Amino acid sequence: MILLNGRKVQKQIEWESGLTVLDLALKHEVDWGFACTRGSCARCRCLVKEGSEYLKAPTDAELDRLEPEEIEAGYRLGCQLQVQQDGVITITHKPYF
Ligand code: FES
Repeated sequence: MILLNGRKVQKQIEWESGLTVLDLALKHEVDWGFACTRGSCARCRCLVKEGSEYLKAPTDAELDRLEPEEIEAGYRLGCQLQVQQDGVITITHKPYF
């Protein structure tokens, strides 16, 4: 179970293999800002509050775009982030502005 927190919409959704968090948010109509979908604009930045152990490791694009301290604190890019296995996961959209 994944809890996605957009700016206005919050939804509990089921995990689907092969989709990014941004894909899941769009599919389930959770308001999630984005622009590039390539890992460069960071409009899709989000904070993983729970369940980081169920996520795939940061992509090269995330490692390039985010500061090491951000990744350490649980920030990821929704357009890059994929869930590896089902679990209790909470992710909140947290763009810079
Ligand atoms: S949409 Fe641009 S970094 Fe994710």
